[in-house]
Amino acid sequence: MIDVKNLTKYYGRTLAVDNISFNVDAGSVVGFLGPNGAGKTTTLRILTCFIPATSGSAKVGGFDVFSQSVKVRSRIGYMPENVPLYPEMRVREYLMFRAALRGLPSKQRSAAVDRAAERCWLISPEDMMRRRIDQLSRGYRQRVGLADCLLHDPEVLVLDEPTIGLDPAQVREMRKLIGSLGEKHTVILSSHILAEVEQVCKELIVISSGRIVAQGTPGELRRRVTGPSRVIVEVKGGQPELMAAAVADIDGVLDVQYTRSGNWTRLTVKGGENADLRQDVAALIAAKGYHLRELRREVSSLEDFFVQMTYEQISGQKGIGNRE
Ligand SMILES: Nc1ncnc2c1ncn2[C@@H]1O[C@H](COP(=O)(O)OP(=O)(O)OP(=O)(O)O)[C@@H](O)[C@H]1O
Ligand SMILES: [Mg+2]
Repeated sequence: MIDVKNLTKYYGRTLAVDNISFNVDAGSVVGFLGPNGAGKTTTLRILTCFIPATSGSAKVGGFDVFSQSVKVRSRIGYMPENVPLYPEMRVREYLMFRAALRGLPSKQRSAAVDRAAERCWLISPEDMMRRRIDQLSRGYRQRVGLADCLLHDPEVLVLDEPTIGLDPAQVREMRKLIGSLGEKHTVILSSHILAEVEQVCKELIVISSGRIVAQGTPGELRRRVTGPSRVIVEVKGGQPELMAAAVADIDGVLDVQYTRSGNWTRLTVKGGENADLRQDVAALIAAKGYHLRELRREVSSLEDFFVQMTYEQISGQKGIGNRE
């Protein structure tokens, strides 16, 4: 349904999107995940025909976003980062106005507005349709924005950070809503919150500095997260730096960091992918006669993976460090 090939976008000299390619199948809910400035909005704006790419191509439903933009726009509902609304209008009035702008025949507008409003819970439990937009809470304004992009029942929904600024209860409702929209539409949504996309998306595309750094289902990405492994140990019985150095000498240990808590030293021991260093660490502690009060393996979470993929440079050097 969405076909992006070698897409690149420069703003002047700033490279915002750097040669990215991906496909989104019809009926899929895809999360576009990345830190601030990664290029998410830029990509979504190209897909929705708001700005042209510098090079590469993007197609929606087989139509080119640049040369066949009218056809693309009629198939897409776009909810931008900041939903532009007319504050002095009432909700129904605004949605009717938008339906007219979208070229819906006048006889169909009222039904289209009711249908979209119903789906975004603007009618029940409380009827929001007669309220002025500037008197709505932010969450309800987001819903109006979402109802707006559903008016023409588009095949594809492009939602740029749909839950930003919402309170936790509203976030939950918005996620539920997006999940239900995924039953009928192809949805691509951006976020910098992993937990959010993990819950609602079948597929994740992780982008950093304009490039795709990982792609797959949340399950596939989680399987890639197995390394590096970490063992957390709390010991006493020696100088912290000497204990850390002894642990660092174990085969397979890549890095040891330590902090002190009272008489105890807490060591964070990093090993290679899938390594389980517990046995070797335990043997060393026994051999040295250190006292032990905790020894556990910590498997990286998808969150760690995301941070690692998007923020950290992996040095690859074996190190011993004091975190105090
Ligand atoms: N109109 C513009 N003119 C110049 N540079 C821009 C413009 N819009 C975005 N950029 C730059 O392009 C890069 C990507 O920005 P973009 O808005 O696509 O990121 P994003 O992933 O949506 O970030 P956020 O999570 O903060 O919304 C950034 O370096 C940004 O400063
Ligand atoms: Mg953005």
